[in-house]
Amino acid sequence: MKIFALIPKNFNLSKKLTTLMLTIFLGGIIVSSVIYYNILLGNARNELSTQSNVLISTMDSVRKYNQDKVNPLLEKQSEEKILLESIPSYAVRGVFDILINSYKDIYGKYHYKDAMINPTNPKDKATDEEIKIIKKLSQQDKLAGQNQNIDQGFLVINGEKIFYTARPLKITQSNCLNCHISLNNSPKSLQIYYEQNKYGANQGFGWELNKIIGTKIIYVPADQIYKITNQNFLIILGIFTGIFAMTIFLATLWLKQYVVQPLNRITEVAEAVSLGDMDVQFNKHSNDEIGRLADAFMRMKTSLEITLKKLVKQRDRSHDEPS
Ligand code: HEC
Repeated sequence: MKIFALIPKNFNLSKKLTTLMLTIFLGGIIVSSVIYYNILLGNARNELSTQSNVLISTMDSVRKYNQDKVNPLLEKQSEEKILLESIPSYAVRGVFDILINSYKDIYGKYHYKDAMINPTNPKDKATDEEIKIIKKLSQQDKLAGQNQNIDQGFLVINGEKIFYTARPLKITQSNCLNCHISLNNSPKSLQIYYEQNKYGANQGFGWELNKIIGTKIIYVPADQIYKITNQNFLIILGIFTGIFAMTIFLATLWLKQYVVQPLNRITEVAEAVSLGDMDVQFNKHSNDEIGRLADAFMRMKTSLEITLKKLVKQRDRSHDEPS
């Protein structure tokens, strides 16, 4: 294999094995970390998306409940007195406030808003980022057709990474305009709120039917989920590194004990024999290739001894014979 030729030739066996394993390990770790981290990031995003979808759908259901079930019962009342609690958007905000206050540990940092370009309640005034999202939703709306129109993504707000899910706000029922077309045409009960400066002067009017005028947007903090993602990643990376380090260590140790040391011993013996020391011996360790090499070497040494003895005898005999 070509890759083996890249290992420097002057390295000894354990260095060669360590280099080979380290290269495989580093390559393997880098490739698998990139893949694994991306899978984890995908999972984190899915988790954020699922959470915010569930919440925004719940809020939509509250809105629908108020719109369809409560408001028809209060129609007469709205002329004389508006029960703000029955206004769908007001109810949604109220329910969400209860959620984040009752379950502070889980939802304390979540945020929901009906962000409007021209809101009734100044609290609903869209920020610059939200205006961009509303514009995006309006463009998508023209293309989306029957598809669910939604925008999701990340924003950094006050240094924190936040995942948002935004759905469009569109007026589809003409009776909504009773209160949202102009101050003069709205019920007296609503005008009173404007007189009391509860709402911004002439704000929240002139809304058009079937046009996207705002967005229902939910903000879910992403830092915590990404912190957990990074922790999980580091744990798995640590385990992998540990296993690989242990493998390299044990493989090198094994190579030293069962290959390098016996080979060194065979070399020592061969050197001693070559210098004429026929008494050197070695203990046979194993029946593997190294063991067989040792056996073959011992046989060679024995036959060398026999040949040498024969030669010596012949020489002695030829010395003793009278010429
Ligand atoms: C009786 C009057 C009235 C009617 C009818 C009415 N609204 Fe409103 N709407 C209000 C008031 C008042 C607010 C501000 C509530 C608050 O203080 O948060 C509001 C707020 C909103 C908001 C939140 C953003 C903002 O402007 O502050 C949306 C969205 C909204 N209305 C949509 C609708 C839709 C859709 C309908 C029809 C299904 C509708 N409204 C019918 C009075 C009305």
